Amino acid sequence: MKINRVLVGTLGVAGLIFSGCGRPTTPAGVPTATPDDPNAIRLGFFAPMSGVQASFGNDAINGARLAVAEINADGGILEHPLKLIVRDTRSRADETGEVVRQLLDDDKVVALIGEIATDRSLIAAPLAQEKGVPMITPGSTNENVTATGDQIFRICYTDSFQAGVMAEFARSINVEKAAILYDPSDPYSAGLAEKFKADFVSNGGQIVAEEFYQKGDRDFSTQLDAIKGQNPEIVFLPSYYNEAALIIRQARETGIDMPVLGTDGWDSPEFLKVGGEAVNNCYFSSHFSPDGQTGKSFVAAYTAKYGTPPPPLAALTYDAVKITADGLRRAGVAESIPLRDALAVTKDFAGVTGPISFDQDRNPTKPGIVIRLQDGKFTYLETVDAKVTEAPVAEEGTNDPPAEAVPENAAKQPQ
Ligand code: PHE
Repeated sequence: MKINRVLVGTLGVAGLIFSGCGRPTTPAGVPTATPDDPNAIRLGFFAPMSGVQASFGNDAINGARLAVAEINADGGILEHPLKLIVRDTRSRADETGEVVRQLLDDDKVVALIGEIATDRSLIAAPLAQEKGVPMITPGSTNENVTATGDQIFRICYTDSFQAGVMAEFARSINVEKAAILYDPSDPYSAGLAEKFKADFVSNGGQIVAEEFYQKGDRDFSTQLDAIKGQNPEIVFLPSYYNEAALIIRQARETGIDMPVLGTDGWDSPEFLKVGGEAVNNCYFSSHFSPDGQTGKSFVAAYTAKYGTPPPPLAALTYDAVKITADGLRRAGVAESIPLRDALAVTKDFAGVTGPISFDQDRNPTKPGIVIRLQDGKFTYLETVDAKVTEAPVAEEGTNDPPAEAVPENAAKQPQ
């Protein structure tokens, strides 16, 4: 890797000497793109690089940097290098507005990549919309984010989809009675709880307990006792990794041994660190797995660069940058409005998280993945096609997952 980079650099300097036109080029005439170029195309990136969700920001930036490095090694976009301007939201909703204003007004970025969490994207989206600058969120799944307006796109599927995947999964392992535990003040958690409930009930399931927590809570014993008293077969816990791991540990101590089902916000190495053994026999919906069906060469390139396989947010953010680059190329000019128009008609883009086409609400239609927690690790279980929950009325029998995808010991555990 290092040798290659040195070689590219040397060829770039040689090209500059001989081309005489002031722009470094390789002997083959391809411009070598260095982000310090004053003509670089500026792409704003904002994410939780520190604070309680720092794990999300760090995964995302790695994916973004790999994409930018590949684009620039390939000569950049429209003969210019791509430059990432990185700003930290510190995992704080109350600081997100200022961070976005800086990217828009001071850094004058052509587009925004971010945020990861729904609540912060809901603050950022109206600002991008008002300014006429496209915002592409890699991970915010709540419907209202893209519903803000025609400048807002997402790379991930929506919460209706992932709630449907988990409701369907619960029914596929013969669960009839479920409990839900969520944070009603968080739009991500509350939206998922509501959607899961509607799907699970309309599939013939019953919600036997509905309990609440608040961001920052440390003791969940009252809620867990109430849940245990109702004998559910699973607990649905739509939350972020910090709370989820803590809640599941306490649930196991309370004697709640049944599977806990969750959503993409669980996805962090921290979840495994804090959850330990307690999180075995749990399942959640995710966006990408290195063991899944897509993105094999991305997995190889990422692993070579960072020494670990890519987590889902790295894959989603890699796709976000690559799709923006593709939009810029098709727009033919590095300006926000033509870029928005080009992005809106994106069709069958070969993303590492799956093929991406935007619908009229700027959401991609794409499959989801179910991850199983086993031996203290995330294990790929199955890929669920987008059609499962997209069809308004499913025909009898068409939604059954393949028999081999259903784990034998998942439900109906003795208590
Ligand atoms: N979907 C989460 C949200 O909307 C963010 C997230 C995406 C977290 C992917 C982890 C992985 O808040």
